[in-house]
Amino acid sequence: MDILEVKALNKVYTGKVATHALTDIHLTIRKGEFVGIMGPSGSGKTTLLNMVSTIDRPSSGEVRIGGHNPYNMKKRELAHFRRKQLGFVFQDFNLLDTLTVAENIVLPLTLDRRPLKEVDGLLKQTASKLGIGDILNKRIYEISGGQRQRTAIARAIIGSPLLLLADEPTGALDSQSSRAVMESLAEINEKDGATLMLVTHDPVAASYCNRIVFIKDGKLAAEIHRGENRQAFFQKIIDMLSFWGGNTSELSSIRV
Ligand SMILES: Nc1ncnc2c1ncn2[C@@H]1O[C@H](COP(=O)(O)OP(=O)(O)OP(=O)(O)O)[C@@H](O)[C@H]1O
Ligand SMILES: [Mg+2]
Repeated sequence: MDILEVKALNKVYTGKVATHALTDIHLTIRKGEFVGIMGPSGSGKTTLLNMVSTIDRPSSGEVRIGGHNPYNMKKRELAHFRRKQLGFVFQDFNLLDTLTVAENIVLPLTLDRRPLKEVDGLLKQTASKLGIGDILNKRIYEISGGQRQRTAIARAIIGSPLLLLADEPTGALDSQSSRAVMESLAEINEKDGATLMLVTHDPVAASYCNRIVFIKDGKLAAEIHRGENRQAFFQKIIDMLSFWGGNTSELSSIRV
């Protein structure tokens, strides 16, 4: 089953100078896939993610999520659809600092007025999946960056969305916390069959995906698939980045 279908998508930002940010993008993501989006700065990655997450409207073309076109929905219907069917993870976590980890995680369920018992069960289950079961009562300002991102992931998946969207989820983390976060995402993908779309500059983070789509100047440039071996996939990603552009000069010292 296709979770995401993007067809002939174009985005032009109008202004003093018009920017053609995306040109004729076609992208299908099937249930249970873990897809990475890579490309040089300014190539259109965030724009693509914003079109999929319904933050911004395409200039032309079609986006379908679980068979539905979110751009045909009325405002309230769209708000409900986003809350139910999409999970979001951001570089800067977007958590509420003065609330506890538990309060942050259950926030989307609280908004839906779900029964407390059910919420509590889901909270325990989700937190243990992400290895944050023992810090549920801490406040966000008391925990590390990696723990914050795992809290944000827990909040994003507690409602079992159709599609989990992440823009540079490891961008603010050191390499060790990045790995822990990527391992959590890979586990959610493998064990729960969650479908993920991840934008990243980081080839180590990208090596946890099943498939990487490269964008250059707003156009699809290439696509590679992971085999059994993450190490080999990492090398393939580095080769692609040096060919299509990326910040490979910083990469020579990275270990997988
Ligand atoms: N709101 C906007 N208004 C006008 N132009 C924009 C807007 N957002 C992005 N752009 C332009 O669209 C193009 C694609 O930008 P986008 O943010 O999608 O790139 P990106 O691949 O996410 O880059 P980065 O890796 O730096 O995050 C760029 O030329 C950018 O300047
Ligand atoms: Mg971006």
